[in-house]
Amino acid sequence: MPPVTRREVLRTTLAASLLPLLPACRGDGDDGAAPAGTSGRFLHGVASGDPLPDAVILWTRVTPDDPLTAALRVEWELGLDPELARPALSGRVDTDAGRDYTVKVDVSGLQPGQTYYYRFRLGDQVSPVGRTRAAPAGAVEHLRLGFVTCGDYARGLFNVYRRVAERDDLQAVIHLGDYIYENARQNDVRPQVPPREAVTLADYRLRYATFRTDPDLQALHRQHPMIWIWDDHELANNSWSGGAEDHDPASDGDFFLRRASAFRAAHEWLPVRTPDHADLARIYRSFRYGDLLDLIMIDARQVGRDRPLASNTLFGEEVPVFTQTGDYTDPARQILGVEQEQWLIEQLRQSGARWRVIGNQVYFSPLKVLGSPRSLGGGGLYLSSDKWDGYAPARDRVLAAVAEAGNVVIMTGDAHEAYAFDVHDDPNNALAYNRLTGEGSKAVEFVVTSASTRGDGVVGDSLSARLQQLPDNLEQLLRLTNPHLKYYNNTRNGYTLLDIDAERVQAQFWFVPIVSQPSDEESLGAVFECAHGTQRLQRRD
Ligand SMILES: [Fe+2]
Repeated sequence: MPPVTRREVLRTTLAASLLPLLPACRGDGDDGAAPAGTSGRFLHGVASGDPLPDAVILWTRVTPDDPLTAALRVEWELGLDPELARPALSGRVDTDAGRDYTVKVDVSGLQPGQTYYYRFRLGDQVSPVGRTRAAPAGAVEHLRLGFVTCGDYARGLFNVYRRVAERDDLQAVIHLGDYIYENARQNDVRPQVPPREAVTLADYRLRYATFRTDPDLQALHRQHPMIWIWDDHELANNSWSGGAEDHDPASDGDFFLRRASAFRAAHEWLPVRTPDHADLARIYRSFRYGDLLDLIMIDARQVGRDRPLASNTLFGEEVPVFTQTGDYTDPARQILGVEQEQWLIEQLRQSGARWRVIGNQVYFSPLKVLGSPRSLGGGGLYLSSDKWDGYAPARDRVLAAVAEAGNVVIMTGDAHEAYAFDVHDDPNNALAYNRLTGEGSKAVEFVVTSASTRGDGVVGDSLSARLQQLPDNLEQLLRLTNPHLKYYNNTRNGYTLLDIDAERVQAQFWFVPIVSQPSDEESLGAVFECAHGTQRLQRRD
């Protein structure tokens, strides 16, 4: 990014004399000769993200009136009042077709914990006003965070995003991935463009643009800063670092070209503070909320994952369960990659906060259709090799660091179902884990259900087809074979709130009744707490 210009410093100094703020700013554009284009509209809303105690990313996108416009210069302003009558900080930033006319500004010099308002201008066009919050610093008594994942535009309306937008007491919203879907679905609820599976840069950009026309998603971004990580559908179904289940080179072309296009569009369209502009594959990063919380966002999907293994049981592909034997025990197989795994372990070791929350894609806890202690060989029949279950040695390494750190909460997306787990690597071993008291548990995990991908009344698609035929019995069956599973719901879309103070973390599972039509309803499905120092769940509703 370019250095702050003299003009920006001057504007900043003038503004700082009016309000108790000393903001500096950096934009993606430079302050040289003004670009030619001066007219366009703000059709995709505003957004903010990756809040730090002194900085936040501001985002918008311009739709130029003339599609041949080479470049545009956009003004932005930020202040303490919603009307922005006296903006504390303003600046200019250039955008162009090379970044799909998206605009990102990393505004620094903010006050910890402060709420701000912001907007953009282009000629006589003014964007909506967005609200954002700098992260608090120092002694923090209480935090409330919203967690969402899996919002499929074609499958459902974003009633969940509207409910979260309406909450006034969230510090930030964490999106655990599947922010877009690349698939070709059409007209479950509404059409999307392009009307085919996204493969090229133009496709992915159009798909983000489609999603961002949604008023509920726009409201979510307008009200809260977002911290996002990708899952698989920002690229292709069940992707890994070298391919994807749904990528066929014969029809989809080179995988790495597709991957580069998907990653570029994601960094353009999401309010993420790109950790490394030379390596867009890297999104893992962490956020500090004073002495209360370290939020560690990981990528268990794209950057370092080895290809998932196939089933290794007698049932073969008919019932694709597997045992932890053979290649599944190979310690060299990675789900995070060597570099990220070391980074995560170091983050856990160095964290001095009361709590550590890990934002994660695929469920970390074991999930089996037949459970037995690991000491008896293999640990039973596991359900999905796409999850951490398919990478047990890597999980063992991370879990050792999790257990040593203590007070760790894992927040997971991807499943389109809600789960609450005591986290243990050998939960069927009664000597290691007590299914009644939770004694032996090393951490807790909450899996957030989809925002819309489940659709209405559809039994989930993340477990094997045979088990889906038994929805009434599924929770009982799963809890019988998985004693560390404390809650399971596979019928609803929704979101999860984390309410955090020094004494406990409380998770609230909220559900919406329908996504095929607009609805203002929501209901509280379950409440769990993990008390300080206990590493286990207690139901509280
Ligand atoms: Fe999903």
